[in-house]
Amino acid sequence: MTSHDGPSRYGHLDCNSPIAAWRFDRQVEECAAVAPETILDIGCGWGELLQRVTERVPGARAVGIDSDVELLERGRAGAARRGIADRVEFVEYQGSDWTEPADLVICIGAAHAFGTGPEAIAALYPLVKPGGRLVFGDGVWERVPTEAQLAAMWPGTGAGDFPLLPDLVDAAVEVGLRPLRVESIEQSEWDDFESEFLADKEVWLQQHPGDPRAAEIRAAADAHRAWWLRGHRGVLGFAYLTLGRAVAL
Ligand SMILES: C[S@@+](CC[C@H](N)C(=O)[O-])C[C@H]1O[C@@H](n2cnc3c(N)ncnc32)[C@H](O)[C@@H]1O
Repeated sequence: MTSHDGPSRYGHLDCNSPIAAWRFDRQVEECAAVAPETILDIGCGWGELLQRVTERVPGARAVGIDSDVELLERGRAGAARRGIADRVEFVEYQGSDWTEPADLVICIGAAHAFGTGPEAIAALYPLVKPGGRLVFGDGVWERVPTEAQLAAMWPGTGAGDFPLLPDLVDAAVEVGLRPLRVESIEQSEWDDFESEFLADKEVWLQQHPGDPRAAEIRAAADAHRAWWLRGHRGVLGFAYLTLGRAVAL
């Protein structure tokens, strides 16, 4: 990196969501085991899960949609590296506008494209073909946050932004999905994610302390660290639900 370069973007993250390697590997295994013919990832970013599952299921066709063109480009490069570019399409699109269903639908960390977690699951249900699966991941409160805790989080965070885990699962059941697996990450998975997210800035700052942009980048890193360590840490969890839709009668 030259002194003209700014910090990398998500350069230290394999996935843009908090997840341990062992949990991610299990998700890949379980998704591949049901051999989906079609896979859809809404808010895919660079679609690491989408790519890994497609790689494991010969003949599967996948579409990842996201509104961030730079992340989609990283996804295309990854698919080319894996030799699956002819079976994976990365499309710039608004998540809530997609209408083509798939056997396996993934939506991780992108519920806000639809609203709250329960609203996202209700909107995603019609995109899951009968007999198919939805792998959904998003924030859940570990406990109802106090006003003081909310004030230390990202500006504008409200108690209604995230559900409690049982309420999220109930919302899925209410729309007609069944929970095949419910998992909730460990604190270490959040800490790894936030550390690796901040590493873009921190590693750059270590190398460029005199750069004219350093003060602004340091302030952004400090603000983010405060939202994490003084705000959501221990209050906001992250759940992954593997949800099944029954076959057609
Ligand atoms: C936290 S990231 C998760 C990315 C990916 N699912 C993963 O787990 O690595 C959320 C993603 O949702 C995308 N996103 C946010 N709003 C969106 C929208 N309205 N339509 C499509 N993508 C959206 C962002 O660009 C970002 O890539």
